[in-house]
Amino acid sequence: MTENAVLRTEDLSKFYGRTGKQVTALENVSIQVEPTTFKVIRGPSGSGKSTLLLAAGGLLHPDAGRVLVREEDLYAFSPGQRTVFRGQNIGFVFQQFYLVPYLSVLENVKMPGVALDIPDLDERAAGLVERFRLGHRVDHFPSELSTGERQRVALARALVAEPGILLADEPTGNLDMENEQIIVDCLREYARNGGAVLMATHGLRTDGFDQVYQLKDGKLQE
Ligand SMILES: Nc1ncnc2c1ncn2[C@@H]1O[C@H](COP(=O)(O)OP(=O)(O)O)[C@@H](O)[C@H]1O
Ligand SMILES: [Mg+2]
Repeated sequence: MTENAVLRTEDLSKFYGRTGKQVTALENVSIQVEPTTFKVIRGPSGSGKSTLLLAAGGLLHPDAGRVLVREEDLYAFSPGQRTVFRGQNIGFVFQQFYLVPYLSVLENVKMPGVALDIPDLDERAAGLVERFRLGHRVDHFPSELSTGERQRVALARALVAEPGILLADEPTGNLDMENEQIIVDCLREYARNGGAVLMATHGLRTDGFDQVYQLKDGKLQE
């Protein structure tokens, strides 16, 4: 139902480059994600998945259309307001983790919470570290972890501010099947507990998701 969607895009379009050599990365894309749902954007490389997630997450200004998060128009905010709103409401996970190399696992997980001044940050971070089976790695540095562990740290970090919406851009792209399954299970559990997940993937799996949006050349397919 449109009314209770936590994230909604309305006719979102994005063009890269100058006129004449313009790439249409997204064309009139309308999607929505409700609480407790785990949805997927599927499409081949270059179909616009990352562009859609970045625009939906407040990191890339669309050329047309709107993004509504909890009924707030993301791009009607000033850049400063948008940054704060994003930090409170939207978590991101990327294929390339982007962990801070000189911070420990626990420090990486706590990082987004420091700026937001979260009072129970220590307990939250410790809870997430346990939940993602990183308890034996809290004091380790990213370089000492397996790729699967690194992605679990990135996931814990994305959830520490309890954002409500998690955007995951091919989070399992660098993982083997076992670690892929662990991450997908973590995302599903997060959705089941009240979160909302939108994950981009170029894989073929469609089972177990609440909805699969298929993108091709920036357009949503039936
Ligand atoms: N910064 C950019 N400048 C120019 N073209 C871009 C840029 N980012 C993406 N594109 C183009 O936009 C299209 C969609 O890209 P992207 O959203 O990254 O797709 P996907 O994530 O599905 O691989 C592609 O044709 C890509 O080459
Ligand atoms: Mg991409």
